[in-house]
Amino acid sequence: MIPFNKHTITQLEKDLVMQSLDNDKICGDGIFTKKVNELINQKFGIKNFLLTTSCSSALDLSAIILDLKSGDEVIMPSFTFVSTANAVVLRGAKPIFCDIKKENLNIDETKIEALITPRTKAIYVVHYAGQICEMDKIMKIAKKYNLYIVEDAAQAIGSKYNGKYAGTIGDIGCYSFHDTKNYTSGEGGAIIINNEFFLSRAEIIREKGTNRSQFLRGEVDKYTWQDVGSSFLPSDLLSALLYAQLNRFDEIFEKRCSIWSKYYKNLLDLDKQGKIVLQPNTLYTSNKNTFSNAHIFYFLCKSEDERNALIQYLKQKGVQSTSHFEPLHCSPMYRRLRGSLPPPKLTNTENCAKQIIRLPMFYDLKDDEIEYIIKLIKEFYNK
Ligand SMILES: Cc1ncc(COP(=O)(O)O)c(C=O)c1O
Repeated sequence: MIPFNKHTITQLEKDLVMQSLDNDKICGDGIFTKKVNELINQKFGIKNFLLTTSCSSALDLSAIILDLKSGDEVIMPSFTFVSTANAVVLRGAKPIFCDIKKENLNIDETKIEALITPRTKAIYVVHYAGQICEMDKIMKIAKKYNLYIVEDAAQAIGSKYNGKYAGTIGDIGCYSFHDTKNYTSGEGGAIIINNEFFLSRAEIIREKGTNRSQFLRGEVDKYTWQDVGSSFLPSDLLSALLYAQLNRFDEIFEKRCSIWSKYYKNLLDLDKQGKIVLQPNTLYTSNKNTFSNAHIFYFLCKSEDERNALIQYLKQKGVQSTSHFEPLHCSPMYRRLRGSLPPPKLTNTENCAKQIIRLPMFYDLKDDEIEYIIKLIKEFYNK
């Protein structure tokens, strides 16, 4: 079976994890966490980068930092992972779901303003498949209505928009280093604090509500309870694993781009014949300052039945492909949250969720496997 996803672990990852075990301390914010921060700073120019145990916890942290509470509304796409909405709901605030665009499955920035009310506090955008949302327009809306922007960049590390990395444009950005992501520590994430106003509070909330980080830097002689908080920091073992992965950043990035472009080039004729709709080609080239990171390769089928039949066909032939998010506004949880209110009608979200198929995408995917997958898809459509 060709799996949908598989992590890439080399001797470097194994060596660095073993090295971290020999260090005096293996708790959070140790030697390897500092190394990750330095690397992220050197490579991406990102300063206020705090590792967390997952992107879900980074999103939870963001909602605490923004002081979201009952009565607040937060606009976000419904086509996203549950964690984007959970973060807001856990604070007692209400997610307001906005439709997506068919072209790239990102939030439709032209539909945001109609959802803004005096209760709106923030917009959580999601860069689906590493394709960045129309951030210039979204930042303008945020400025006009005095709203915070959080970028759920779980899937978008390494992607750029007008020269800026995903996660560095809004007030706060969140990354994921889950097993399914381009760079992984098994479970892991990070929060990027771009709005300096939130920095000292973020550091405290991440450290159980204490000023322990200040204490460790020698700025205070003891640390105390300062604010609400929880334990959001990962063990240094995980940071060692992540450090190895990030040291292989370019190698992994290039390999994924090459797989992505093989799929794209070979499936373009099916798109031209109107049989499928490919995602836009926003892949990296050296002359672009807006590009995506080859996180996912997906296309849209004509219907849900056709998509399911294709997934089944590939499965019979030994290839694991998959759909993606079930729209949150149609979920059992949201049914409970909205009570007797009617659900919003989000046509693109509902249709695209039924039509999307994602193909295997991982570092070790071989050329002959890619060719085999392409051959099967062509066979399916030319039957
Ligand atoms: C858009 C989005 N947000 C948040 C998450 C949660 O990430 P994590 O598994 O690191 O908590 C994911 C995970 O797939 C995601 O795709």
